Amino acid sequence: MILDVEKIRKLFPIYEENPNIVYLDTAASSLKPTPMINTLNHYYQKLGVNIHRGVYKIAHEATDLYENARTKLADFINASYEEIIFTKGTTNSLNMVANHYLDILGPNDEIITSELEHHSSFLPWLNVSQKTQAKLNFIELDNSGKVTVEAFKQVLNQNTKVVVITAVSNVMGNNVPIKEMIRLAHEVGAHVIVDAAQAAPHQKLDVKDLDCDYLAFSGHKMLGPSGIGILYMKSSLAKSFTPIEFGGEMINKVAKDSMTFKESPYKFEAGTPNIAGAIGLAVSIDLLTEIGLDNVTKHVDTLYNYTIEKLKNIEGVRIYNHNSDTGIIAFNIDDIHPHDAASIFDKNNICVRAGHHCAQLILKWLGAESTLRASFYIYNDFSDCDKFVESVIEARDFFRKF
Ligand SMILES: Cc1ncc(COP(=O)(O)O)c(C=O)c1O
Repeated sequence: MILDVEKIRKLFPIYEENPNIVYLDTAASSLKPTPMINTLNHYYQKLGVNIHRGVYKIAHEATDLYENARTKLADFINASYEEIIFTKGTTNSLNMVANHYLDILGPNDEIITSELEHHSSFLPWLNVSQKTQAKLNFIELDNSGKVTVEAFKQVLNQNTKVVVITAVSNVMGNNVPIKEMIRLAHEVGAHVIVDAAQAAPHQKLDVKDLDCDYLAFSGHKMLGPSGIGILYMKSSLAKSFTPIEFGGEMINKVAKDSMTFKESPYKFEAGTPNIAGAIGLAVSIDLLTEIGLDNVTKHVDTLYNYTIEKLKNIEGVRIYNHNSDTGIIAFNIDDIHPHDAASIFDKNNICVRAGHHCAQLILKWLGAESTLRASFYIYNDFSDCDKFVESVIEARDFFRKF
C-alpha cells in the first residue's frame, strides 16, 4: 500500500460515523476532510463577513484568506494570480467560456470536441453551435475509446476556432494527449478549453507547460467543498473577454450610460463569491500537496490493478474501460440493470455510481444505456477492493435467480 490509509481515514469524519463504509464514488465527489471542514467553520464562526468592501479588521482578514486561497490555487497549477477565477465549479466555468464564444463564432467556424465529454463540457458547445451555426466536429475515438493525436489531426483545420476537450473522461478514466493537441490547435490559431474535473484530483497540472487557454475544475472532487471551482484563463485572453455576469465589485466606474470593469480576475467575479468555499479549497489543496499527487496516482493505480485482476476473472462481468489512469472502472454485470445491482452494493454499505454519468455520448459509443462505476481515492484500501469484488459476485448470483 502506497499511502497509510489508516492514518488518512482519521482525517475523514465520515469514517467515525460510518466505520464500515466502502466509498467508491470519488469520481462523483470526494469525501471531506476535517481540516477543510474546520476551515469552513472558522470562517462562519469567527468571520462570516464579506470581502473586498469592508473597512474593518475581520473584513480584511476574510479578504486576505480569500486572496491567499487564489494564490494557492495559482501555485497548484502554475498559473499567475490574476489567471485564477473562482466559480461555482467546472460546469459554471465551462459555461462561462462557451457563452463568450456565442458572440465570436459564426457559420464558417468549427469547434472540435470528443464523445468523451461530460455534459458540462459538451452541452454548452452544442448550444453555441446551434446558435452560431459553427460546425461541431468530433474526434474519432480508437477501438479502445481513446482520443489519439492522429485522429485529432484529421478534424483540425484552418477553420477550427475552438477545441474543447476533457483531460480525463469520467467514464473511461484515461489521460487524453492534451499537450500535443494544444500545440497543434495553436498552430491553426484555435483556443483550447480543458475540462480538468477528473484530472485535477489525481495529477499535477501545469498550465504554462500545457499552454492551454482555459482550464476548469471543481473543489468537491478533490477534498474541497461543493459550490467552488476554478476557471483558469490565460492572461492574454482576459482583456478581450467580456464578463458574463454583471454586478457588485467587478466595476471601476458606473454611469447612467457606461461602465468600466476591473482587471481579471475581479471583473469575472460579480457579486459576493463563495468565500468559505475558496478558503476551504485552499486547505484541501494543502492536504493533497502534502500527500503528493504522485503518491495519489501510485496508490490509486495499485488499488485499480488489484481490483481489475479479480474483476476480469468473474464470469458475467463486462468491463467497458481499460487501463484507467485515474482508478475508474465502468462495468456491468450480466443483464442486470445497474440500479438493481447498485441496491446490493448499497445493502453492503458500498457506494458506487450507477447511471449514464452525465456522459451519454460515450455511453452510446460503448453500446450501453447505463453502467456501474467504481472509483478509488486516497482513503481506499485492499479491503475495500475485496468487499467490492464480493458484492459484484453477490449481485450477479442474486439476480441470476430471477
Ligand atoms: C469530466 C467532468 N467534467 C465536468 C464535470 C462537472 O463538474 P461539476 O458538477 O462539479 O460542475 C464532471 C463531474 O462529474 C466531470 O466528471
